[in-house]
Amino acid sequence: MCGIVGYIGKKEALPFLLEGLKKVEYRGYDSSGLVVLKEKAKCVKAAGKLEKLEEKTKKETIKGNFGIGHSRWSTHGPPTTKNAHPHSDCKNNIFVVHNGIIENYKEIKEELEKKGHNFLSQTDTEVLSHLMEDFFQGNLEEAVIKALGKVRGTYALAAVALQDPGKIVAGRMFSPLAISVNKEGGFVTSDPAAIVSYSKKMIFLEDGDVAVIKGEDFFIKNLKNKLKEREETKIDWDTEEAQKGGEPYFMLKEIKEQPESVANSFRGRLIEEEGTAKLGGIESVEKKLRKIEKIRIISCGTSYYAGLIGKYMLEDYAGIPTEVDLGSEFYLPKIDKKTAFLFISQSGETADTLSALKEVKNKGGLSLGIVNAVGSSIARETDAGIYNHAGPEIGVASTKAFTSQVVVLSLLTLFLGRQRDMDIDTGKKFAKEIKSLPFLIGKILENMEGVSKLAKKYKSYPNFLYLGRRYNYPVAMEGALKLKEISYIHAEGNAGGEIKHGPLALIDKDFPVFAICLSDGVYGKMISGIHEIKARGGKVIALATQGNKEIEKIASDTIFIPKEVKILSPVLAVIPLQIFAYYVAVFLKKDPDKPRNLAKSVTVE
Ligand code: F6R
Repeated sequence: MCGIVGYIGKKEALPFLLEGLKKVEYRGYDSSGLVVLKEKAKCVKAAGKLEKLEEKTKKETIKGNFGIGHSRWSTHGPPTTKNAHPHSDCKNNIFVVHNGIIENYKEIKEELEKKGHNFLSQTDTEVLSHLMEDFFQGNLEEAVIKALGKVRGTYALAAVALQDPGKIVAGRMFSPLAISVNKEGGFVTSDPAAIVSYSKKMIFLEDGDVAVIKGEDFFIKNLKNKLKEREETKIDWDTEEAQKGGEPYFMLKEIKEQPESVANSFRGRLIEEEGTAKLGGIESVEKKLRKIEKIRIISCGTSYYAGLIGKYMLEDYAGIPTEVDLGSEFYLPKIDKKTAFLFISQSGETADTLSALKEVKNKGGLSLGIVNAVGSSIARETDAGIYNHAGPEIGVASTKAFTSQVVVLSLLTLFLGRQRDMDIDTGKKFAKEIKSLPFLIGKILENMEGVSKLAKKYKSYPNFLYLGRRYNYPVAMEGALKLKEISYIHAEGNAGGEIKHGPLALIDKDFPVFAICLSDGVYGKMISGIHEIKARGGKVIALATQGNKEIEKIASDTIFIPKEVKILSPVLAVIPLQIFAYYVAVFLKKDPDKPRNLAKSVTVE
């Protein structure tokens, strides 16, 4: 997501900060800023590309040997210069850069405004600098620790103060942050890529750590003000490897990020005790949403499959009839005021989806978005929307965006369901499932090796069929799409019940079938299909629910996923399929990040 860099040492801070920000450019960003301190603090910010910030710094004299910088991927507030970090307090004494989301920022802001604090931005981050100001009595780390004691949410942050010079104070809670100290000086970063060329030894902070870096010296405390010892980690990555977090490909990094990206998608939005969701982005149309009688979802590719899962959830749990259209096939002969049009897009720039949105807008329909890229065209042009908060997705094959889309659709279902007939107990059950996902995804990721062994075994087959029913039918199509787009193996996703209406003719010993066969209401029917395939000599890789003893006797190979989740099983089921596709591509020596003929953002119709 956003990137943090900081330097304190004997050299000028500005060149390091600019270079560090360039190294984290690959994460995507929409604005940036930095502050360098000497007798005065010089703070420069710019919306748009990093060159804009660089140009501005050239027009100023920026001297000083400590400072912090930030590249922003907007969450709260659009990507304007005012909303760019660093944010300062009323006296321009304390400056803060921050990644993450402060969930209780509205309450804190109201409290501070009553005390006379003047806010300049629409961000959640700005409450941090003002809160620190409130506690500041000449010692920055004390103010940071007290301020962090009041906030709820996630953060990686770095702060500096003119009235307590010669130190950078850094803090972490659920968002990565590393520090490094050597003869060159002290560094702080959210992304090792920014500093690996200066230092190969880093300390990765733990949740609740507050580090004070004073050039070649540092110490770490916890939020109870107790000193903490942390081990150094030696890194032997170069910059490019570091950008991938030490993984060989972005796709693998993004697959592994899913416990965190899924948690970010629902963080601050689930109200478990009330069995509902709070979705700030659609509050403005809440009344209109109460009256809608139909939803039409419009999207493409992987986002289309997420939409299909959304249809099942919205119909089953919110009771709203839902249709799903491909952006390129969408048409709207007549507008119906009781229909809401929901556009799902990772990039927010897909031309087919955007052109459908334009048609809806021209005809006066209510448009909503589920978009990952903040400030993108679809995010700007829809009447209201919900951001995924999955962080930038670099690999062309969509992985973490898909799981976050399904999670956001489940939040929307919960919200619309509770507006209608969904009772609180069902709401609570739903919310509990959503909350359990990060842990359960983590469990599936523990079996990467098992799935990679299957990928090795099956990599040479020229064709694959993926089968699933109901909620996991779109997952079958998504699994097939993943395999074909990065390994160039022909793969089709089919509805489990359809195999006997045609595709069964293809089956022989050289045409393996991936069957999503979870212990749910369609299990019995999926098993019948599997028997039909086996009877024709077909090989079946079953994706089954943990604890199912029967399936291993029938299928050629089985991958298990945790049994705790029912409604949101697609979020778990898709992960082994992503891992399988990834390893098949790698074993076939294809680059999964850059599949031939494809682009990350498809801006032509
Ligand atoms: C497949 C993939 C594509 C996109 C599609 C829509 O892995 O990434 O199918 O899902 O091009 O893109 P967005 O979601 O950006 O509108």
